[in-house]
Amino acid sequence: MTPVSRVLVVSDDATWLAEVLAGLGAAAVQLENPFGLTFMGAAHLSDALERVAADGDVQIVLIDKQLHEKGVTQPAVQLANRIMALRPELSLYILLVDDDQKLLVEEMASHVVDGYFYRDEPDFSGWFRILSAELAEKSATPFYDRLKLYVRMAKDSWHTPGHSGGDSLKGSHWVGDFYDFVGENMLRADLSVSVPMLDSLLHPIGVIAEAQALAAKAFGAKKTYFATNGTSTSNKVIFQTLLTPGDKLLLDRNCHKSVHHGVILSGARPVYLDSSINRQYGIFGPVPKETLIAAIEAHPDARVLILTSCTYDGLRYDLEPIVEAAHGKGIKVVVDEAWYGFARFHPVFRPTALEAGADYVTQSTHKVLSAFSQASMIHVNDPAFDEHLFRETFNMHASTSPQYNLIASLDVARKQAVMEGYRLLERTLKLAQELRQKINSTGAFRVLELGDLLPEEVQGDGIRLDPTKLTVDISHSGFSTDELRQALFERYNIQVEKSTFSTITLLLTIGTTRSKVSRLHDAMLRLAKEKRPPRTPRRMPEVPHFSRLACLPRDAFYEHGERLPLLDDEGRPNADLVGRVCCDQIVPYPPGIPVLVPGQVIDESILSYLARLQKAQKAMEMHGLAEEGGDYVVRVLSSAELLSLPGRILFS
Ligand SMILES: Cc1ncc(COP(=O)(O)O)c(C=O)c1O
Repeated sequence: MTPVSRVLVVSDDATWLAEVLAGLGAAAVQLENPFGLTFMGAAHLSDALERVAADGDVQIVLIDKQLHEKGVTQPAVQLANRIMALRPELSLYILLVDDDQKLLVEEMASHVVDGYFYRDEPDFSGWFRILSAELAEKSATPFYDRLKLYVRMAKDSWHTPGHSGGDSLKGSHWVGDFYDFVGENMLRADLSVSVPMLDSLLHPIGVIAEAQALAAKAFGAKKTYFATNGTSTSNKVIFQTLLTPGDKLLLDRNCHKSVHHGVILSGARPVYLDSSINRQYGIFGPVPKETLIAAIEAHPDARVLILTSCTYDGLRYDLEPIVEAAHGKGIKVVVDEAWYGFARFHPVFRPTALEAGADYVTQSTHKVLSAFSQASMIHVNDPAFDEHLFRETFNMHASTSPQYNLIASLDVARKQAVMEGYRLLERTLKLAQELRQKINSTGAFRVLELGDLLPEEVQGDGIRLDPTKLTVDISHSGFSTDELRQALFERYNIQVEKSTFSTITLLLTIGTTRSKVSRLHDAMLRLAKEKRPPRTPRRMPEVPHFSRLACLPRDAFYEHGERLPLLDDEGRPNADLVGRVCCDQIVPYPPGIPVLVPGQVIDESILSYLARLQKAQKAMEMHGLAEEGGDYVVRVLSSAELLSLPGRILFS
């Protein structure tokens, strides 16, 4: 299938514009046109901007440097900058009369311009070839192409993996169905580092390096690295690159658990910042700006600040002032954009963390773009980036047998985001708006708006909501979230993303279709019509405040410790645990916030919270608690271990 690639030519010289469009149009007919280049004109700045915004198939804009616009100085340059602010993935060419004009453009907008054509050299087939080559370069998938080529070469495999391109499975009476289920190409493309022409993820110098360079350009990074172990591993790699034992780190206590694991691995000294909480809906929001700025002021010796933006529920920080404050003290900023990898490709979602000045950004490309699960990217813009150290830690965490289909999927996901991300996201936004209205019209369910979601303490912080993440209040429907999830799943074949005691979350992506929206609406309408009697939602007990650290998390984690039961013989919270130092990270799920991290002192409120959770919800997952004879036990430091810890002094 040939795509459509529109080229917009902007000039108020009507005769010349017609000549250019006719010349390029004729070249498109005469020459090979694999990208489906078509040409259209615009005479004014506003007209051009409107078309770029309205037509997701516009790929290239040619701007006549002679463009006039009443009341606007240097309209061509202005237009170039405004188009890039809107859609940075587009290619821009300037049509010049002389070299003076070129100098001016280079001074004012060279960073956004891809090339120049001179008006007195109207070699339209030459221009056409250059524009085609531009699209070929942008839409290239060097790794995926090489992988396909290799599979087509049908080499005999005398190397790993053991299924040998699927030959061990094919035709088997017992497991042949797996071959059919997964598909031949997937198995033939499951290759290994034994194939040099496919480059190496751990030392990329060929097609993987090329694919990563294209991704860096697309996402606005100096360097991009593909990770096949998810953002979980990407976060740990960055922590181990930036932090040495004892280094101070500012972090949102509500960060993903991989961040907390990174604290243990790096030996960093964490300063936990409490995130805001929306108690009505059981949703954790961003850390208040005031808390962040105060922490930056109070800990100018911190090496790193890490934030999650946007959150799982779609709340995103006004990052620029925070990054500026951190950089003012020489603190590096890492942003976990696990849920926001598409943001670069539509202005509604921008600025991205990189655009806001972050030094390191991790993205689960698989969560919100078309990559396979586990396929993530690490973007780097740190001016003091130590590539050697990064490579060492990357290789420490990465498998020496990465899954090649995952790498190909990152290459393809980047191409898609660049070539059609804007158009697809525009559609997703429309579907999200439509679904919002439809759910609200059921009467029983309501999509929460930013004002509903924002915890009070962050109301004035400039936080915005990603409209593709829909949090639906179900508290007036008469359903519990468990009942609703079950009804959607069993009766209507619908699986939602997550839930709290009074909400469900729906994640819309570029893969959401109008049919899915319609089926979901239909299901919710039918469920609303059941008119169940209202019920009082069972609230989660409130997560207790952070107590204090007695030592570095890493030190506590690596001690042997002793195991004390959570409840005493009478089933009450075990008073012997109060004042003891926890060795593990204890995370009840949901809500998934660590109630204790290694090195943290257990106080009465934490103990009674854990005991209450255990009694109230036996089926609840309690990550970090060990089980002995069917009872939960907590691993804590013995007094001798605590006294012997060298880092303890930092916390006394
Ligand atoms: C904020 C955040 N960071 C990181 C991760 C880990 O991402 P991955 O699943 O790609 O390992 C998640 C996963 O849910 C997350 O929510």
